[in-house]
Amino acid sequence: MLFSRACDPMKNASKKYNIVTFGCQMNKADSERMAGVLENMGYEAAEDPNLADLVLYNTCTIRDNAEQKVYSYLGRQAKRKHQQPDLTLVVAGCVAQQEGEQLLRRVPELDLVMGPQHANRLEDLLQQVFDGSQVVATEPIHIVEDITKPRRDSSVTAWVNIIYGCNERCSYCVVPNVRGTEQSRTPEAIKGEMEELGRQGYKEITLLGQNIDAYGRDLPGSTPEGRHQHTLTDLLYHVHDVPGVDRLRFATSHPRYFTERLIKACKELPKVCEHFHIPFQSGDNEVLKAMKRGYTHEKYRRIVKTIREYMPDASISADAIVGFPGETEEQFENTLKLVKDIEFDLINTAAYSPRPGTPAALWDNQLSEAVKSDRLQRLNRLVSVCAEARSQRYLGREEEILVEAQNTKDIHQVMGRTRGNRLTFFPGNLEELKGKTIRVKITEIRPFSLTGEVM
Ligand code: SAH
Ligand code: SF4
Ligand code: F3S
Repeated sequence: MLFSRACDPMKNASKKYNIVTFGCQMNKADSERMAGVLENMGYEAAEDPNLADLVLYNTCTIRDNAEQKVYSYLGRQAKRKHQQPDLTLVVAGCVAQQEGEQLLRRVPELDLVMGPQHANRLEDLLQQVFDGSQVVATEPIHIVEDITKPRRDSSVTAWVNIIYGCNERCSYCVVPNVRGTEQSRTPEAIKGEMEELGRQGYKEITLLGQNIDAYGRDLPGSTPEGRHQHTLTDLLYHVHDVPGVDRLRFATSHPRYFTERLIKACKELPKVCEHFHIPFQSGDNEVLKAMKRGYTHEKYRRIVKTIREYMPDASISADAIVGFPGETEEQFENTLKLVKDIEFDLINTAAYSPRPGTPAALWDNQLSEAVKSDRLQRLNRLVSVCAEARSQRYLGREEEILVEAQNTKDIHQVMGRTRGNRLTFFPGNLEELKGKTIRVKITEIRPFSLTGEVM
């Protein structure tokens, strides 16, 4: 019989899985939950995908190069399946959602294609595969609360999803197509997961959402003033005192919905770190309008100013896109100007990539690859200069570093982060320091990282 593997934990006892994750923190969090499901089914982790009985690609389609990477990885495993027919091949995540059935036509060796909303259903879906079907799960569903424990990569820091999906329609972006409409988890479910993390010894939790400021607007309940009862700000107060957890972060913030109430809460709540990730995408109002972002660069500047009034040393990071259709040299320079003026700690930059199913991909004012890559290089140079200038303020200062791991380049050093999220290395023994918050004097700076010594 061709499909004889039952989904019986005993039978899977010696089976190995490997998950390769592309893309953003949502995907990383989903991968950890899917790994938890597989381990619950009796699978063990394999370092090398070529030694695994089940290979799962959790994919990203935010830009064309992210998508193409998936196909080249998949090709290799599809070949292996010809020698090893009982290899189970799964494509999850955003390419799976975008391509659906088409992916099976392109790579017929696949057993399962599953969109991000189906991550918690992995066991169910695999059962159908083991029963002999090739399965595509991309229909929109209500995301069920997870019953198995995620297998987290770190034992110090953890992600907790608070809202799935995105209801914005930025004209360049595939996320609403592939992640579906917003679905907030209840404050009780979120707090429950965080309490469990606290008990397990996790010290830092990052609350996640594509547009985290939208949290709660799909949940029932409003205040007498007509405000949603469950905003991100309310949630921060609700979960702040979870025992064991020392630091809280959240991402990603949308300038359109970012409130002063939230800023006040961050100032008031000691565990919430002074770091804000607020993508601006462009520094030009015309481009922002064409992107359908719903704010101006003036509004963005006001947000940052307000944050710094409350917390003068707060770190600000962002995402930016260059070469959006129709972007003139002058409009691009407005982005450079914003970057110079704000003094960001870090910016993730990207050249615009036309994505299937998004309005901007169909416009006839696309820029050439040469112009896009020239602008990207110019922006990156500036970002690095600004980041180094921002790092400068740390020199000689005492910082609290939460130790996460070894410095991969120097086994005598450990790695952690400042409250402002700057990567920091210092001499020390991981076994002794892991999960501890250590006071470190910063002795050396680089644009994106610091070195220090224990006080
Ligand atoms: N929800 C977040 C961003 C999610 S996508 C927000 O609203 O800002 C992560 C980043 O990828 C975006 O901030 C954007 O800078 C980039 N990105 C999204 N679509 C893109 C595209 N078509 N081309 C280039 N970069 C893109
Ligand atoms: Fe994409 Fe805009 Fe939603 Fe961010 S807010 S995920 S950029 S559509
Ligand atoms: Fe990529 Fe999907 Fe995240 S497209 S950036 S993995 S939401």
